[in-house]
Amino acid sequence: MTSAELVSVLSDELRDTRLVVVANREPYIHLKNAVEPQGWWARVRRQKPRGEISWIQPASGLVTALDPVMRACGGTWVGHASGSGDRAASDAKGRVAVPPDRPSYTLRRVWLSPEEEEGYYYGLANNALWPLCHIAYTRPQFNESDWHHYVRVNRRFADTVLEEIEDSPALVFVQDYHFALLPRFIKEARPDVVVCQFWHIPWPNPEAFRICPWGEEILTGLLGNDLLAFHIQYHCNNFLETVDRTLESRVDYERFAVWRGGRATYVKPCPISIDPALWSHPQKRDTRTAELRETRHALGLRNGERIIFGVDRLDYTKGIPDRLRAFDRLLDRHPDWRRRVVMVQVGAPSRDHLIGYQALSHEVSEMVQAINERHGANGWQPVLYRREHQNPEDIAALYRAADVCVVSSLHDGMNLVAKEFIASRSDYRGVLVLSRFTGAARELDEAVLVNPYAVDEFADALNGALLMDADQQTRRMRALGARVARHTVYDWAGAVLRAACRMTEVV
Ligand code: G6P
Repeated sequence: MTSAELVSVLSDELRDTRLVVVANREPYIHLKNAVEPQGWWARVRRQKPRGEISWIQPASGLVTALDPVMRACGGTWVGHASGSGDRAASDAKGRVAVPPDRPSYTLRRVWLSPEEEEGYYYGLANNALWPLCHIAYTRPQFNESDWHHYVRVNRRFADTVLEEIEDSPALVFVQDYHFALLPRFIKEARPDVVVCQFWHIPWPNPEAFRICPWGEEILTGLLGNDLLAFHIQYHCNNFLETVDRTLESRVDYERFAVWRGGRATYVKPCPISIDPALWSHPQKRDTRTAELRETRHALGLRNGERIIFGVDRLDYTKGIPDRLRAFDRLLDRHPDWRRRVVMVQVGAPSRDHLIGYQALSHEVSEMVQAINERHGANGWQPVLYRREHQNPEDIAALYRAADVCVVSSLHDGMNLVAKEFIASRSDYRGVLVLSRFTGAARELDEAVLVNPYAVDEFADALNGALLMDADQQTRRMRALGARVARHTVYDWAGAVLRAACRMTEVV
C-alpha cells in the first residue's frame, strides 16, 4: 500500500474521528545553537548557522515508521519535548506544525522535569521494561520511585491527549513500552474513544515477566486498549499467557481477546515495515558509479576492499560486540580476507546517560581498537567505526555501497535496518546477514540467518555472504524486495487502525 492508498482507506474508516498518536519520542527535535557537525561523512544538511534554531530527526525505528504515516494522514502526535530549541519553536500550548520544512501534521510537546525524565524514561522504561522484554541477559532494575514517575508521566500524557481530542470522536494510537498505563487512563475518562497500542519490542514469556513488581498494574493498563498489537504471533501468545497467569480475566484463545470488566481487548500481530519509496532510488549506471566512488572515497577505501556494513543505535540488544567478534574470527580463520574486506559500523549514541549503555559504548570502542591492532597494518584498518548520528541520505549511500549488511540483534521486535537495506538495493545486489532473533527473520527468509551468539557459525555466514555469487544475490534480493514492497509501513498502519475501528464495532 502507498501513502495515498492509506489516506483513502483511513478517510473512509475515520470520517470525523481525530487521529492522535502518543509516543515518547518526538518526530522532530529543535536545537538551539547547534554546532555544525564535523566528520567523516559531513553531508548533514539540516543544520543552520550557529545561533539559529535547527532541527533533526531522532534515530528511532518508531519515528522512522510513523512519521511517513502521519505525513500521509495528518492528525496530532503527542510526544516528549527533548530539544533545547523546542520551547522557542512551539506555541504557548506546545504545538508546532511539522515536518518543519513541509508541515502536514501537528506535534504537541509535553515537557518533563529532569526528575520525571530520569524516573519515567531512563528508569522505568529503559532500565526496567526494556531489559525485561528483551532477552539479552541484562538484568532489569526495579526502583519504586521510578515507578511513581512512570505513573505520573503516563497520567500527564493521558491528560494532554484528552485536551487535544476535546469532545470529538477520536482514535488514540499509543506507541510502545513508555505508555503501558495510559490506555486505561484514557478509557476511564472517555469510554467512547477508540484506543489501540503497538508494542514495538518483544513481549517475554510469563516466566520472564513475573519478576516485574508492577506486573498487574502494567497488564491492567494495557487492557484499557481496544486493540493491542505486536510484531509477531509469538509475542501475542506470550502476552495472552502472561495475562492468563497474572490477572482474573477471561482469555479467549479462539478470538485472541481478553475479557475483563465487561469489555474486550483484542490482541493481534501486525509486523511493522518501512516506506520503500523513501529508500529505493533507481539510479542510472553512471550515477551509481559516481556515488559509489564518492562513498568509498569518503571512507578512505583505496584498494577495492569489500564492505560489510552495520548501522544501529548503540544498544546492548543489537549484538554489536558479537558481530565484531565474528568479523575478528573471520579474519583469523581466513587471513586472505585481510586488506580485502572492511567492516563499516555506524553506532548512533543512545540513552548514554545509563551505565549499561556507557559500558557498551566503551566495549565497542575497545574491541574496534583491538581488532584494528591485531589485523591492521601500514595504515590499513579493518574496522571503520563512527560513533555518530547519520542522515538517512548518507545511510542510504552506505547501504548501496555495501556488499553485506549485518543485523545481529540478540533480540529485536522487528528491526527496520534489514528492510531499509533491502529497499535501498534497486540493483538487487548485496547480501543481508540477519539474526534469527529479530522479528524481521520471520518474514525475510532469503536473508542469511545467523545465531549471533555462535561466533564460528556467524564468521562462516560472513564468509559465505562475501563469496555469494551475483546470480544468487540477485535471486534473493528480488524475493526480499518483493516482500518489503508488498507489506509497507502504510499496510502496517492501515491494518492496526482499521482493526481497531472494527473491533470496537464488534464488541
Ligand atoms: C526502540 C523503541 C522506540 C524508541 C527507539 C529509540 O526502537 O521501540 O520506542 O524510540 O528504540 O530509543 P529512544 O530511547 O532514543 O527513543
